[in-house]
Amino acid sequence: MTAALLEVEGLRAGYGSVPVLQGVSFSVAEGETAVMFGLNGAGKSTTVNTIAGLLKTWGGQVRFDGAVITGLSAAEIVKRGVSLSPEGRRVFPQLSVKTNLVLGAWTRRSVQKEQMAKVFGYFPRLEERVDQLAGTLSGGEQQMLAIGRALMSKPRLLLIDEASLGLSPKLTQTVFQVVNQINDDGTTVVIVEQNVGVLPYADQALVMQKGTITFDGRGSELHETGDLRAAYLG
Ligand SMILES: Nc1ncnc2c1ncn2[C@@H]1O[C@H](COP(=O)(O)OP(=O)(O)OP(=O)(O)O)[C@@H](O)[C@H]1O
Ligand SMILES: [Mg+2]
Repeated sequence: MTAALLEVEGLRAGYGSVPVLQGVSFSVAEGETAVMFGLNGAGKSTTVNTIAGLLKTWGGQVRFDGAVITGLSAAEIVKRGVSLSPEGRRVFPQLSVKTNLVLGAWTRRSVQKEQMAKVFGYFPRLEERVDQLAGTLSGGEQQMLAIGRALMSKPRLLLIDEASLGLSPKLTQTVFQVVNQINDDGTTVVIVEQNVGVLPYADQALVMQKGTITFDGRGSELHETGDLRAAYLG
């Protein structure tokens, strides 16, 4: 069996005094793609944001490549090789596509050129619009830019929060295929998704309910009628 690249153990986090994550545990093997499903408000974004160091950890531990990264700054976590494409895209609207990408590599300038070429290989559409202001891109193009920006630091682990939100079925497929290609090129991927169309691309499936993981298995074991219905209907 492949070694785990990401190990999340008993993770707890929340907002103010309100707990959200109630002891989240799962691990992801190097080279695999894991998809996380769950109802709105289940705690999926809180999970990936805590792993990425954007939220404070209340308890438990995150290990990356065997080393504890809990409590490190978000910038240090990026340097270690973990990158997040956040929910809602969050590109800088007043800056060009190119500048948005350059900013994604600020912690690792040495890989900037190499990674920009890679991003343009995955998303030729971004290269065609390299000088366009990010705020004038279509929703799908902004999603490509958000993923591209996260790739600029040459991560070993890419976390993507809601890749397909608001995209047409066709563009959703394109984005899933590119994510699959990124994974084939050696990057481990954790993708938070509502669209079950991602399942054929996933090795591992997770279901989160009310701040805990209630299903963790191979993607092929997650039966759309049983487990997924439970995940979405509570
Ligand atoms: N900044 C915040 N301040 C207070 N509560 C928050 C904040 N962000 C999220 N929450 C709450 O934490 C819970 C989990 O939210 P989270 O965003 O992790 O859910 P999610 O599974 O990503 O949902 P969605 O599918 O809608 O994106 C929700 O009850 C939400 O209202
Ligand atoms: Mg979310």
